Amino acid sequence: MSVASKGQRVTVPELRGRKGAEPIVVLTAYTAPQARILDPHVDVLLVGDSLGMVIYGLDSTLGVTLDMMIAHGAAVGRGSRHACVIVDLPFASYQESPAQAYRNAARVMAETGCAAVKLEGGVEMAPTVEFLVKRSIPVMGHVGLMPQSVHAYGGFRVQGRGEADGRAIVEDARAIAGAGAFSMVVEGVIEPVGREITASVAVPTIGIGASPSCDGQVLVTEDMAGLFAEFTPRFVRRYAELGEALGEAVAAYAADVRARRFPGPEHCFGVPKRAKLA
Ligand code: KIV
Repeated sequence: MSVASKGQRVTVPELRGRKGAEPIVVLTAYTAPQARILDPHVDVLLVGDSLGMVIYGLDSTLGVTLDMMIAHGAAVGRGSRHACVIVDLPFASYQESPAQAYRNAARVMAETGCAAVKLEGGVEMAPTVEFLVKRSIPVMGHVGLMPQSVHAYGGFRVQGRGEADGRAIVEDARAIAGAGAFSMVVEGVIEPVGREITASVAVPTIGIGASPSCDGQVLVTEDMAGLFAEFTPRFVRRYAELGEALGEAVAAYAADVRARRFPGPEHCFGVPKRAKLA
């Protein structure tokens, strides 16, 4: 049954129950009009902190603030009816302590109406995940390539290439699942690591540059729709070239304005029926 035909929002327990079943479809959304378009087709609308780069033109996600996430999370909530809305906790809003994470996650949930928060981290974040989950804040984890750690990596690099690195990421995933995360994003890892994580945790994995065997997949909407042309990672399939289409539409509009072909009488108010304008 399609998400839209159920007539209610997808819930966190429903997503958790999809392990090994029908793949979970996730896309990022940052605005109400975008959410309205995506909502009938997806299970989850992820308000990702990738909005720092995609919407605000930042170099990384590190400059994204809690207020930015709350404003965009609330907009996506208003623009959707069916998908489960999950909002990223931004850099430095949860790493300091479980209490800091609780305070900020609770604010995100109360002010956006989202069903869950997502946070990056492995073994070291497991106590925080447990603290939140025990206090009724559903948590989606995020392991593998964690964009908030870009400076620790020295760049956006595929993770898990060495034997020990791969093992550590699988341990991260197990720790987060053991702490109560209901699902987790697995990003930018070599395929065998994505596959092994999916086989070894009891909650759904959502892959991005991970493995087709993940329990679901996520892409940044602007990447798959051809709206973010800065660069296209290998793991993205472009389903449309909306950036090109928009460029052509804007060029046609500009030409019409310059040639006085727009606006026409039909776009004006109070024009006598047979009057010819300019
Ligand atoms: O911030 C984001 O959009 C994300 C997804 C790419 C998983 O974390």
